[in-house]
Amino acid sequence: MKRIKIFDTTLRDGEQSPGCSMNTDEKVEVAKQLEKLGVDVIEAGFAIASDGDFQAIEAISAVIEHATVASLARATKLDIDRAYQAVKKAKHPRIHTFIATSDLHLEYKLKKTKDEIIDITREMVTYAKSLCDDIEFSCEDATRSNNYFMIQVIETAIECGATTINIPDTVGYTTPNEYYELIKYIKNNAKGIDDVSISVHCHNDLGLAVANSIAAVEAGADQVECTMNGIGERAGNAALEEIVMALKTRHDYYAYDTHINTEQIVRTSELVSYITGVKVQPNKAIVGANAFAHESGIHQHGVLNNKETYEIMTPESVGLKQNNLVLGKHSGKHAFKDKLDNLGYDLTDAELNRAFIEFKDLLDKKKKIYDKDIVAIVRNETIPYDEIISLEGFNISSSMTATSAAIKLKIDDECFESVELGDGPVDASFKAIQRVIGVQIPLFKYQINAVTEGKDAQGETVVRAKYENLEYTGHGLSTDIIESSIKAYLSVINKILKDSVIYNEMKERIDQDKMMKGIG
Ligand code: KIV
Ligand code: ZN
Repeated sequence: MKRIKIFDTTLRDGEQSPGCSMNTDEKVEVAKQLEKLGVDVIEAGFAIASDGDFQAIEAISAVIEHATVASLARATKLDIDRAYQAVKKAKHPRIHTFIATSDLHLEYKLKKTKDEIIDITREMVTYAKSLCDDIEFSCEDATRSNNYFMIQVIETAIECGATTINIPDTVGYTTPNEYYELIKYIKNNAKGIDDVSISVHCHNDLGLAVANSIAAVEAGADQVECTMNGIGERAGNAALEEIVMALKTRHDYYAYDTHINTEQIVRTSELVSYITGVKVQPNKAIVGANAFAHESGIHQHGVLNNKETYEIMTPESVGLKQNNLVLGKHSGKHAFKDKLDNLGYDLTDAELNRAFIEFKDLLDKKKKIYDKDIVAIVRNETIPYDEIISLEGFNISSSMTATSAAIKLKIDDECFESVELGDGPVDASFKAIQRVIGVQIPLFKYQINAVTEGKDAQGETVVRAKYENLEYTGHGLSTDIIESSIKAYLSVINKILKDSVIYNEMKERIDQDKMMKGIG
């Protein structure tokens, strides 16, 4: 068995795609989960892109024990310096630098000649190598590049110390046979290629990213770059879960292994989907809600007699737990913790206490509690954010002609109340909250999903807002969908308050109000 390294770029190429941005705390949570999943490399971001990216890469570098942590950098000194600064404290740091090699990119984007590209490659890989031992070099738009020229660039990068050479299908243009031939060609023609790892990086514009990646592995690639749930630029990147499960399920055909703990796949998928608020399509291979559901009578009959009739891998192998009925009114903290252990969650004491309070609260509202309810509570309690504003209470009055919401919020131990009319309870509540903070925070996404079946199900709300060019996600969870929506809106506001001047402005306004009223 040849071991294929899994290079996860969920936090870089994935995060770069519209609607998928994450803040530092969220990226750290995902990175920790990727380490549990067993990926070999975590590409944590593009350090020069923003201060937020830089901080997230630094924070990830500080907590990751086993995986290599990489930062992307264009082939410039400034980019490479920034990348190195961000990863230098990682146990296993990597600088990933790239330059385009296709005629199209040379002429219209870089406005450079082929000789200039070779010179830049020489200079920048040498420079990166002077900072860090582990250097990955990528030929951007490799699949539309002239092969002879690309070989020259690759040989230059290897001579100057690159340890991994990546051949990206940047625009998702290639096909499995063509990509196979390209990787073989590089293996047979580039001097020094046997001393470095060959990596492949496929985009999914033609729906071929996974097939192309596997064809490249068959041609001799050592590392596959991919993302959880296949998120990424345009149609996305190759989906990690599909590549890994294809290699595992077809062991009879493929002589390749990965270090992925496949039982962590579903959990990682759910975490990425929860944090980004980007839902996985129900029929998505491996991690879609229907991936293991058997609907038709003939299939159900077959599966009852022998699962293998219609199941090529078990749901358990990807960590899909049956939705068991769990714990009841009299379950104590011990039983709750046992359940969490069983579900694979290892919470800190503070997280456990918070989750247990929520669980007890849920027992009062919901007759049957399932694993999915527990997982939703844990998700909701373990991704940290500073709660500057909290919800103290609300009252909705709604009819077919008018709705009003009265909201009570707590800010720094002081309570504030506000009443607003709106188009329905959610609109009225959000307006009442905006009245208190004195700023309008419009949402570009508002989505609510039932965690389980039944009319007493918990509603999980996801909202996304843009403020000063940064995107923020908020979550709320409750059996009352209005409360869930209000909590989600407050969580997005709390994240924005932490990063912006609104908090100081809001405090000044509150103090002025108090002075006018002669309080304080
Ligand atoms: O798709 C691409 O070419 C990339 C490179 C920067 C590796 O993401
Ligand atoms: Zn890419």
